[in-house]
Order: sequence, then C-alpha cells, then structure tokens
Amino acid sequence: REVDIDPGDYEAGEHESFMHKELLEQPAAAERMLRGRLDERFGTGHLGGLNLDARELRAIRRVKILGCGSAYYVGQMGASLIEELARIPADAEAASEFRYRNPIVEPDTLYVAVSQSGETIDTLLAVQEVRRKGGRVIGLVNVVGSAIAREVDGGIYLHAGPEVAVASTKALTNMFLGFALLAVQLGRVRDLSIADGRRLIAGLTAIPGQIEEVLATEPDLADIAKRLAEAESLFFVGRVRGFPVAREGAQKFKEISYRHAEAYQTSELKHGPLALISTDVPTVAVVPDDELVERNVAALHEITARGGPLTVVTHRGVDLGDLAGRAHRVDVPKNERELDPILLTIPLQLLAYQAALNLGHDIDKPRNLAKSVTVE
Ligand code: AGP
Repeated sequence: REVDIDPGDYEAGEHESFMHKELLEQPAAAERMLRGRLDERFGTGHLGGLNLDARELRAIRRVKILGCGSAYYVGQMGASLIEELARIPADAEAASEFRYRNPIVEPDTLYVAVSQSGETIDTLLAVQEVRRKGGRVIGLVNVVGSAIAREVDGGIYLHAGPEVAVASTKALTNMFLGFALLAVQLGRVRDLSIADGRRLIAGLTAIPGQIEEVLATEPDLADIAKRLAEAESLFFVGRVRGFPVAREGAQKFKEISYRHAEAYQTSELKHGPLALISTDVPTVAVVPDDELVERNVAALHEITARGGPLTVVTHRGVDLGDLAGRAHRVDVPKNERELDPILLTIPLQLLAYQAALNLGHDIDKPRNLAKSVTVE
C-alpha cells in the first residue's frame, strides 16, 4: 500500500529545503511534545494515552522496542533510558528482523512500536505479530490516525507536526523525549526517587532551549561539513550512550550525502576498523561528559596517530587533553547525563545537512529512498 505524504499547507517557505525547516523547528516541536506531560510535583511523566495504570506499569518485567532505521536507533537510546531510570531490562530490535524470527512474546513484556509515519510496513507487521500472540503494544507515533496508531493498545503521539524530508529530524527528537518520559514514569512506580524524577523533569524542561543553542552553531559547522563531504568514507564512533548517537549520525550522513558512513563503538576500533584509518578517512566521535571520557580520548589518539582527521562532538567543559590541538571540536550544552543523546545528535544532523548542501544533492528526496516504506 502506497501512502502519499500530504503536508497540507505546510511549506518550506524561506528555507531551501524541508529538512532545514524541520531541523530548525525542533525547539518548538520539543515544547509541544513535553507540554502537559511533565509532573514537576511528583517528578514524573504524565502519559495519559498509555492506557496502563500504576499496577500494570509495575508488572512490566521487560521492554522490547521495535522500529526501523533511525526510529530503531532512537529505540536503542530509549532502551538505555529505561534500563537506567527504571531498571527494567530493555532492548531495541529492527522490526524488519523481529517478525521473521518467530519471536517469543511474553505477557509481562511491554512492546513499544516507534514510527514517525505510523505506516512503515515492517513495524506494522511486527505489531500485528506481537498482538496476535497476545502481547501488549504501545506506540510512539507521529502521524495521528496512522495504521500503527490504530493498531496499538495505547500510545504517545509525538506532536512533531508534518515531516516531509526523507531524512527525519524533529520526529526523532520527539521520539527520544517520549522515551525519556516513559522511562521516568516507569522509574517512578519503581525505585527512581522523587529527587531524581524532579532532576530529570527539570532536565527535560531545559531541552528545547538547549536545542536552540545547538542550532545556533550551524554556521560554525559548515566548514567541518565541507571537509567531511570531500571524503568517500567516514566513521562515526561512540560508546554506551554515545553509540546510538553515532549510528544515527552515520545514517543521516549516508542518506543525504551518499558517502559511506560507518558507525562503530569507539571501544571496538582496535579490534578491526583501525586498519582502515588514514588521512583520507575522517572520523566523527561522540564523547559525552561521562566516566568514559579518558577512555574515549585514549582510543581517539589511535586515530590521530594514523593521520585520521577527527571531529569530536562533546559537552562544554570536557577536557580532551592533547587531543584538543589535533581535532575539530563541536560543543553542546550539558544537561542531565541520562538525556545526553539528544543534544549530541543535533550537530550530527547539521553536519549531514551541510555536507549534502555542499555536494548539491536533493536534500529532501535522496536517491533510492522513500519517506515511508509501506511495501515489503
Ligand atoms: C530516517 O532519516 C530515515 N529516513 C529512516 O531510517 C526512517 O527513520 C525509517 O524508515 C522509519 O520510518 P518511520 O519512523 O516512519 O517508521
């Protein structure tokens, strides 16, 4: 089934592409996503549409997130949030794989289908497989009334507004916020303290303004993006919370620049990919301000020692030691550690966008890709 995207009267306006417009709409979209869903008093999320009361939320023993492409990568960010904040085992899987392996569906697992369009056939069929086996599925969906939204037992609308560019931006940001709200809510019916709940709610409140700050750095990124666009092949690396960020960064870059961009765990470089590093192969490294900074810096030295051009996306104030003189540095503001992935993702969107602009590609409609994959 083919679904036409009907953006209504939504137009690119003064922007030369929808992607650019949608990138810049992120602070407003994030505000909409959070509106009415932050309970500052009890330090929790307020997600009415889940159709799950506190007892049912407590009974969840496992969370399985299903999505495709970038939605799957944000699902990985979401799984970490749920494990960290609610201490419930959680993982994300490509919906396109899940449904082909006769998955074990358990009654005390909460399944979460995540999709901008709500029409992605692999995600829809995964939802149907879970429900056919008696599992409970909630949706994190942008398009109201879409097939997945109609199929699930409850859910969270993303309120990102229409998204036209094939390369998703604002919907992904809102997916992350949806997972953060869900994780806090799941945590607060378990052992997440009210103080930690309030800390995270305050962190979420600050996100739209901080996204705005990162977007304002776009002119500084243009030059780095131009150089990255000259390479035929690039690495995006990160670890733990930074790894899904690197995966999403590589995805965005390859979609619109048509360059080979491979995501890898920084910790795994020495187990193989270092052999590919040379002066022609740049690396974009995600280095959050966490307990792994020193280890990350040590691993990245292996890249600069081989002449590999390096860009480090990190937090303000992080000490990169003598790597500082050998790498381009992109800073994002600090928020609560658990929420790190979202702000670190924004510069990677801008780098991909600026690279594609330099290459003169059709940014909104990259070759070979559709906004919504609705056929098998
Ligand atoms: C994102 O930039 C991609 N175009 C793609 O990976 C997308 O996220 C994926 O196809 C899933 O789409 P959905 O969110 O509409 O289900």
